[in-house]
Amino acid sequence: MKPPAESLSILKDARWPWVASILACPVCQQDLPVKEGAAGVTCLGCGSVFGQVPETGVLDLRCPGPKTHVLSVRTGVVAFDDLLERVPKDPPRVTYGDSLPPRATAEFMSVIKDGVTSGGLVLEVGGGPGRYRAPILGLGLRFLITDYDSPGADILADAHALPFKTASADALLMQSVSQALENPFVAFREVARVVKKGGMVLGTADCCAVFASSFYNMTPWGLLSVLQASGLAPERLWLTKDALEFCGTNPGYPSLMKPILRALSRLSRLSLLTPRNLLRGRPSDPLVTAGSFAFIARKVE
Ligand SMILES: C[S@@+](CC[C@H](N)C(=O)[O-])C[C@H]1O[C@@H](n2cnc3c(N)ncnc32)[C@H](O)[C@@H]1O
Ligand SMILES: [Zn+2]
Repeated sequence: MKPPAESLSILKDARWPWVASILACPVCQQDLPVKEGAAGVTCLGCGSVFGQVPETGVLDLRCPGPKTHVLSVRTGVVAFDDLLERVPKDPPRVTYGDSLPPRATAEFMSVIKDGVTSGGLVLEVGGGPGRYRAPILGLGLRFLITDYDSPGADILADAHALPFKTASADALLMQSVSQALENPFVAFREVARVVKKGGMVLGTADCCAVFASSFYNMTPWGLLSVLQASGLAPERLWLTKDALEFCGTNPGYPSLMKPILRALSRLSRLSLLTPRNLLRGRPSDPLVTAGSFAFIARKVE
């Protein structure tokens, strides 16, 4: 089905005058668009043609076929370091007070509000339904939501081959996406590539993503390893849900079990039930119990 002419693409939409200036071919990384017609956008660098979702006209900038990535990573950097101990593990100060859609967090909104100057560009990867659209636009920032396959996205894009020029974004948000990545090392390197030096990457990682087609349920240590391999310095990690609570809010489990799991989660936090920690004089690191956790990292290289 041919897309309706009036929805030729986001590139011709007056509400998005800046989008064309940040796009790059996800296959060869040459700047896009170079030629646009009814069939979509053609990259003159590699000849790839990118179409649109027929029903909505949303530009589809996913690679038309598999892509080969060459990656060089160092090991022995995180595993034998005390990096996790040194990273602050409390949530950032909340300065954003407006109401938010479900599952959009005041913590991320506060960091974006205080850390990105007016008119700055925020990209979302794996944005799903686009929970942050209204609040981030409300801050006077430019915001573009990408997802591999969601009707909430402004552009379809794969986190492993992002269709953006290097160093375009001031901040990048990826909430609850890391578990879905086929290759987190490749995808985080892409994420770091499109963020400006000094820019931020904010996200959550689900360690207990059951009932989902996830590849790697990332732990805090796994995340640190991926961040360091991508030139991203962790600034802060904090627990969002422990494993019991995460499972107790997962739609996949029987409704009857979920309140029990949540009650067990609350019980497990009672120090009386963990006398070993009391005797040691210190509570164990809450991140070791993570079902999901949030992170903020900064591009350093
Ligand atoms: C658990 S949902 C999270 C959605 C949204 N960020 C939120 O917080 O509600 C994971 C999202 O990641 C997207 N996704 C999975 N693999 C992806 C990839 N390789 N590139 C981009 N998005 C991807 C899925 O389509 C889905 O919308
Ligand atoms: Zn190309």
